[in-house]
Amino acid sequence: MAVKKTVWSYMVPLCGRKEQNPETPQKKALSKPASFQRLSLSDLSIPGLEDLSVSLAGSRLHVFTLLELKVITQNFSSSNFLGEGGFGPVHKGFIDDKLRPGLKPQPVAVKLLDPDGSQGHREWLAEIVFLGQLRHPNLVKLIGYCCVDEHRLLVYEYMPRGSLENQLFRRYSVSLPWSARMKIALGAAKGLAFLHEAEKPVIYRDFKASNILLDSDYTAKLSDFGLAKDGPEGEDTHVSTRVMGTQGYAAPEYLMTGHLTTMSDVYSFGVVLVELLTGRKSVDKNRPTREQKLTDWARPMLNDPRRLSRIMDPRLEGQYSEKGARKAAALAYQCLSNRPKQRPTMRSVIETLEPLLEYNDVLEGTFVYTAPESDPRKEVKETKGQQDHHRRRHSRNPHPGRRSPRPTIHSDSDATLDHGRRRNMDDPLPSDANRSNEL
Ligand SMILES: Nc1ncnc2c1ncn2[C@@H]1O[C@H](COP(=O)(O)OP(=O)(O)OP(=O)(O)O)[C@@H](O)[C@H]1O
Ligand SMILES: [Mg+2]
Repeated sequence: MAVKKTVWSYMVPLCGRKEQNPETPQKKALSKPASFQRLSLSDLSIPGLEDLSVSLAGSRLHVFTLLELKVITQNFSSSNFLGEGGFGPVHKGFIDDKLRPGLKPQPVAVKLLDPDGSQGHREWLAEIVFLGQLRHPNLVKLIGYCCVDEHRLLVYEYMPRGSLENQLFRRYSVSLPWSARMKIALGAAKGLAFLHEAEKPVIYRDFKASNILLDSDYTAKLSDFGLAKDGPEGEDTHVSTRVMGTQGYAAPEYLMTGHLTTMSDVYSFGVVLVELLTGRKSVDKNRPTREQKLTDWARPMLNDPRRLSRIMDPRLEGQYSEKGARKAAALAYQCLSNRPKQRPTMRSVIETLEPLLEYNDVLEGTFVYTAPESDPRKEVKETKGQQDHHRRRHSRNPHPGRRSPRPTIHSDSDATLDHGRRRNMDDPLPSDANRSNEL
């Protein structure tokens, strides 16, 4: 069925107009039309701003004014700074019950387009078109957006544990326990499967540790749909695109031909699974040359149970299910096959991962998450053996006053800030290698 742009146009707020007086209420939340058909990015003529007002898709999204977003982020203050990627800086904010009727009080993350950054209007629009229409427990919720003059902002649900990249690779903290790693892998797999199995399939194209956000109980949610593409239609087997993505995660056939399929996402999933097993980044220029590209280094050991322990993350200190690790490594090996057709579908990845969460041959017991957001010290209940481990770790901690694991990375005590533009000091420093780019 062809999508009727007129169905959307009446719901779409003007974009590009001057800031409205916040006293004058504008039409805030967009409602869903009766016969809902997901609008594709290709249905939109990538517009001048005026065109946007008649073609931008939206459903249940709130259109914020710039003033509102300044209020909820305390004028984008550096103390609310969460991090920065290719799109621009991200700040924590809080929507209180006075902001607007019908919008529940909640913490949010506000992403502001940096006009000098590597992304622009197109990525902003893609985020709204995809996340505004796709809803799933393993996709981050887009609450709304702002589009005034040249300003482009996005407002998301706030994810207390930040990105997997921060959790997995940051120094000076307790490492992610095995059970959390498997829960994250499964959640992220469910997010990808949802996209691939949609009525109109979506190829995510930028699956990587920094785009997997974590809720307080380690539920994984995919964020950043700026590079997402609608899957092939009809007889087509692939979508042809400019090669975009992040070094170290992109599938070899996609890099060589620009042909994009859902199997490209499966490859990237395999890379993240190896990151979870080894605690190493997909590309790490600080390692010896033959270890810099994670998949090249790890691949021969993934399918060899006798050598697998050599590549397992030393920060796990042996506390993982051996059987689970073997199965997860064999799965990663399949996902990383150079032949896309030999990779499993995301549905089959889920079926392999699900039972791994039940394995209880983890040394010294399992973690149980109780997840209160307000007191990080109570977030993890541990077995006695694990408490002993952590005590040993804390004695090596160069920040003895800091309790781990920490739920957020935004407070001044956690971060070295430089006019709100520096990343968290525990955060892997931004490098072109782990940014979304033309490859
Ligand atoms: N909804 C959110 N809740 C909490 N933190 C968030 C949220 N969205 C983003 N962040 C944090 O903001 C930082 C920047 O995220 P962003 O997605 O803009 O960049 P990136 O993923 O690091 O890089 P890239 O541009 O390649 O995607 C990350 O450290 C992430 O943890
Ligand atoms: Mg990102």
